[in-house]
Amino acid sequence: MRKILFVCLGNICRSPAAEALFRARCPQIATDSAGTSDYHIGDPPYGPMQAAALARGVDMSDLRARQFSAGDFAAFDLIVVMDHANRHDVEALRPSGSTTPVMLFAPMAGAAAVQEVPDPYYTRDFDGCLDLLEAAAAGLQRHVALSD
Ligand code: 4NP
Repeated sequence: MRKILFVCLGNICRSPAAEALFRARCPQIATDSAGTSDYHIGDPPYGPMQAAALARGVDMSDLRARQFSAGDFAAFDLIVVMDHANRHDVEALRPSGSTTPVMLFAPMAGAAAVQEVPDPYYTRDFDGCLDLLEAAAAGLQRHVALSD
């Protein structure tokens, strides 16, 4: 496992936060994030999400939004999505023959975890989102360690 891509809808809340939390744990793994939409291409992470992350010592100010594309299937070893809609939109672009795994992030937090990472752009619960992303990042770190 060398390259992991985190995907959400806008690429300004959940996936850049997931990337920032995970890269702090696993700096040896190349990471990126992308949105299934074109809503925020070129934008930095959403201000309230950046502030909530920085309060935990996680700086994500260097990240910029981009849109997911079919080429990402070949460029990454694993694609991690935040909800079922993300998975559907990503799978719609899978090139024929591609076997790159696409996994939901929230279940990596543990057996009792929810399936989806709720979108704090709408819920406004940035800290709750970061709690779930942090637990899932720890689970993904274990997954990566076991797969090497
Ligand atoms: P994200 O949240 O998918 O976690 O980045 C969103 C941010 C912005 C929008 C939707 C979701 N939007 O519609 O602008």
